[in-house]
Amino acid sequence: MGQHLKPMSTTTHHDQPASLPTRLFNLADHEARARDRLDASAWAYYSGGAADEITLRANRAAWDALALRPRVLRPLAGLSLASQLLGQALPCPLLVAPMAHQRLAHPDGELATAVAAAAVGAGLVLSQQSSHPLEAVAAHCLADPERGPFWFQLHALGERGWLRELIARAEAAGVEALVLTVDAPLNGVRDRERRAGFALPAGLATPHLPPASASSLDGLLAQAPSWDDVAWLQANSRLPLLLKGVTHPLDAAQACALGVAGLIVSNHGGRVLDTMPASATLLPEVAAVVAGRCALLVDGGIRRGTDVLKALALGADAVLIGRPVLHGLASAGAAGVAHVLRLLQDELAAAMALCGLRNLSEIDPSCLQSPRDIRT
Ligand SMILES: Cc1cc2nc3c(=O)[nH]c(=O)nc-3n(C[C@H](O)[C@H](O)[C@H](O)COP(=O)(O)O)c2cc1C
Repeated sequence: MGQHLKPMSTTTHHDQPASLPTRLFNLADHEARARDRLDASAWAYYSGGAADEITLRANRAAWDALALRPRVLRPLAGLSLASQLLGQALPCPLLVAPMAHQRLAHPDGELATAVAAAAVGAGLVLSQQSSHPLEAVAAHCLADPERGPFWFQLHALGERGWLRELIARAEAAGVEALVLTVDAPLNGVRDRERRAGFALPAGLATPHLPPASASSLDGLLAQAPSWDDVAWLQANSRLPLLLKGVTHPLDAAQACALGVAGLIVSNHGGRVLDTMPASATLLPEVAAVVAGRCALLVDGGIRRGTDVLKALALGADAVLIGRPVLHGLASAGAAGVAHVLRLLQDELAAAMALCGLRNLSEIDPSCLQSPRDIRT
């Protein structure tokens, strides 16, 4: 199962190991290079959103619409991106979002992503739809002393005995938290994907999916995770449990009442329910309900260090990076992923310094222009 690249005539030396070209200055440059290298159907799968892609576009527009308010003349020496998350050291507030089938972007898939994330001190959330076994992925990141957290994402819970074994495997492999994705009981209506004729290639491994997955609508709905499953997972694993895709304040309140370890505010990168609000719009409401009772993360459309700073100013402890990681992977394998994450770290450090911030703990809503300051 190889990389889903364009035919030889239209791409650069895809038999050779991908190396990092020098003229990649930001995440958009990696995106353009990935688009050149991937075939049209894999590109549609990676970059597309649901239906009219209103949420997909809104995610980007909402970060852009927030304005930063710098403070000046403050001490900056010793600027640090480090903090703590779930009682563990967090070298920087970036984690790789769980993303399925990374072998489509590069033959090393999740293994390359894991090596790269660990090397630059970013966390990794491994998708249940990983194309490599979680033990192999763990072996590629856990030994690195600089690494960030290593979490495993679930959504297809299957039958309890099978799920118990999967959780035991994750615990034995060194996974540090479980993430239950709650916003995607079924796939979004993905017009772009269907138009491009995207289909998963035969032979693409998915070693962590339950043996018999439903395909009919009724079957999928019957298997959709529930609040009972949340309680079951808390009772049947010693790992902290986070919920990904909680966006309604009432759901956030219910999750906090159950004592979850964290919430990830996400609209799945605009891939599931189109016309949901942008994640930057959803975050403050959830942050107000959570009020520090559990960890809070956000993803969707984060493409610049300034976006990360804005997310933290709105109450997030850390952010997840989705598609840009796949772009780096398609663009130049592990080196591409590491470069994407480094670019974001460097941009975040620059943005913090220019805002007069030396530590993540100094980031608060006063870094942002509030709506009442905006004069039209
Ligand atoms: C190709 C692709 C596959 C994804 N697969 C999963 C998955 O397996 N599980 C999951 O919880 N989210 C999945 N997501 C959603 C991401 O975890 C994340 O929420 C989203 O990509 C963040 O938005 P961004 O891509 O704009 O950064 C996927 C996203 C993409 C682009």
